[in-house]
Amino acid sequence: MICLGIESTAHTFGAGVADSKGNILSNVKDMHCPEKGGLHPREAFEHHVEVSDAVISEAVKRAGIRLSNIGRVAFSQGPGIPPCLRVGAVIARSISKKLNIPIVGVNHCVAHLEIAKLYGKMRNPAMLYVSGGNTQVIAYDSGKYRIFGETIDIGIGNAIDKFGRFAGLLFPSGPAIEQLSKKGKTYLNLPYTVKGMDVSYGGMLTNLKQKLNSGKCNLEDICYSFQETAFAMLVEVSERALAHCGLNELILTGGVGANKRLAEMCRIMCRERGAKFYVPPTELCGDNGAMIAWNGILAEQSNDTHIKQKWRTDEVDVSWLK
Ligand code: ATP
Ligand code: FE2
Repeated sequence: MICLGIESTAHTFGAGVADSKGNILSNVKDMHCPEKGGLHPREAFEHHVEVSDAVISEAVKRAGIRLSNIGRVAFSQGPGIPPCLRVGAVIARSISKKLNIPIVGVNHCVAHLEIAKLYGKMRNPAMLYVSGGNTQVIAYDSGKYRIFGETIDIGIGNAIDKFGRFAGLLFPSGPAIEQLSKKGKTYLNLPYTVKGMDVSYGGMLTNLKQKLNSGKCNLEDICYSFQETAFAMLVEVSERALAHCGLNELILTGGVGANKRLAEMCRIMCRERGAKFYVPPTELCGDNGAMIAWNGILAEQSNDTHIKQKWRTDEVDVSWLK
């Protein structure tokens, strides 16, 4: 079976094609990057409406298939920004009607996990899922992906983008901060906030802004210290999840998973405890349609096409693993 997946939860409109053997046949995306300020829901919505046709046509073309070969259409049902989610849901519904094929609503967070598991060929890993909106350490147990630790305020990617915006960098700021941090030489002390298995980035963000405002610290050192501290917190919690759950595989996924320093820190920790580590290629770490297509193959068909703005990872019935 061939599934067309549509992603539209936030800044990215993506379409991808997957088959039931786990082959990703195409993955096309177009990201809305505001020139100034953060993500505006209406502007992201307008972007998605404008590019949707071209992105979907290109995904079908690159997959080397015809529309009539598509047996199922999947869309990101949540969590996400409501106007953005609605674009994907409406387009998926109209494709389902036009081609007379089933429609499947997919959880965006679980799709990030499943695409990483597919590529990493891992059966039961602990998973560090780090993106703009989410920062969670996850493992599977009894029909659900359980969250063992998460951010108690903002996501790591959100902290990165907020600080980037404050420092005058473009959105998304992750890649720029990663480059600047390579030139940092001096480690500056920052709040390291791990509470049990949870992390917090709010205080760190305030501290970063104060350091930049003081005029006494250079941006490279601030970015370097930001990455080292923020990522060490994530590695600590991931290691504890591996130890407590008795697991020996770790997956890193989500947009911030594209960061090479974070991957390196995870890899070192895993090597030291004899665990396997995997991070997908950058185009599959960030939001994309291929992950929705693959999760659309795994998930059961449902007729519920209402968007779910706050649909958490641990609320999803992971029927395909039972
Ligand atoms: P979610 O709904 O899963 O929270 P999202 O809307 O945040 O998804 P993603 O594409 O999964 O979208 O993640 C985007 C985030 O990844 C942004 O905050 C961006 O700054 C961050 N990011 C991208 N590349 C890098 C990088 N090289 N280093 C650090 N962060 C990065
Ligand atoms: Fe995402």
